Amino acid sequence: MNMSSKLILTAATLAVGSILLALYPPPGSFNIYAPPDIPGSVDHLHSAQIVKVGAAVGPESLVFDPNGDGPYTGVADGRILKWEGDEHGWTDFAVTSSQRKDCVRPFAPELEHVCGRPLGLRFHKKTGDLYIADAYLGLQVVGRDGGLATQVVSEVEGRPLLFTNDMDIDEQKDVIYFSDTSTKFQRRQFMSSVLSGDKTGRLLKYNISSKEVTVLLEGLAFANGVALSKDQSFVLVAETTTCRIHRLWLRGPNAGNTDIFAELPGFPDNVRRNPKGEFWVALHAKRGILAKWVVSNTWAGNALLKLPLSFKQLHALFVGGKAHATALRLSEEGKVLEVLEDCEGKNMKFISEVEEKDGKLWIGSVLMPFLGIYNI
Ligand SMILES: *[C@@H]1O[C@H](CO)[C@@H](O)[C@H](O)[C@H]1NC(C)=O
Repeated sequence: MNMSSKLILTAATLAVGSILLALYPPPGSFNIYAPPDIPGSVDHLHSAQIVKVGAAVGPESLVFDPNGDGPYTGVADGRILKWEGDEHGWTDFAVTSSQRKDCVRPFAPELEHVCGRPLGLRFHKKTGDLYIADAYLGLQVVGRDGGLATQVVSEVEGRPLLFTNDMDIDEQKDVIYFSDTSTKFQRRQFMSSVLSGDKTGRLLKYNISSKEVTVLLEGLAFANGVALSKDQSFVLVAETTTCRIHRLWLRGPNAGNTDIFAELPGFPDNVRRNPKGEFWVALHAKRGILAKWVVSNTWAGNALLKLPLSFKQLHALFVGGKAHATALRLSEEGKVLEVLEDCEGKNMKFISEVEEKDGKLWIGSVLMPFLGIYNI
């Protein structure tokens, strides 16, 4: 047997073994697959109130408009919806694609490049415009009346954007910081990006008046959530595969330098600043021992991708077999201040964003058909 067949056999054995372990864990056993416990965590997110998004799924990002109305959220069929309160529920606000006649199923990954898949949302408060990071259609913008959004950035350095993910806006300088998760993989292939060790993610800057795009950081392993600090002296970008958040200094003596803002116990999705200037980070999932090993041994991840495993099985391996929800509150210096969880995934799972407003946390999920509202 040659070396690479040995590796594939090892990975196959591990994968099959761990999937079996996850499905039928021996009672009381130490499970290298399961999501780990986080010291000091409060297992209380299951008390969040559930708000269904009509028949839609995957309210990934949540944002309130300059009047405090909403939230607005992008769902998997490509629409951006607005919450009008308990009585009126959700209304259609905007879309990122004009070719929507086939966009009728709540979840159809094979049509996402046609229907659009809005992820990160942010309002430009001065103009009232809503900026949209659409995974397939790039950076877009729509006015306060909604409707069909228009393209802002669809290519960078002559190459189309494949996986635009999140953004934040510096209204003083009128620039938008946004993330491009990968130049190789699209959103529906996100497990391939993570498992293959893809490091083509970028942090980009768009100047609203000159329309110029600049690459600020490259070589990121799944660039994801983006958030500016309260004083706009730095911008954060989550690097999902490595479970880290990078900080790029924009002002002061360190301007232009980056450092690691936080190392996390799981895979970060969006990052949102609260009114105090702290940051809420939603973890898609915590990182178990096996997931950590697979992600740090690219050959094993690549071998797994060659096996006849479904997306669901690969995803189960990655998230530790057990759906759960984990939100972290970080100080302005990156220290963990609070960990809120639904450890058993009774109510919340695979969360993508935590937006704090008026003593409540609004919690999105890229896969679930609802969002959560948690009283703090
Ligand atoms: C944006 O572009 C304008 C016009 O070229 C320029 O004056 C301004 O300095 C740029 N802003 C930033 C933050 O780069």
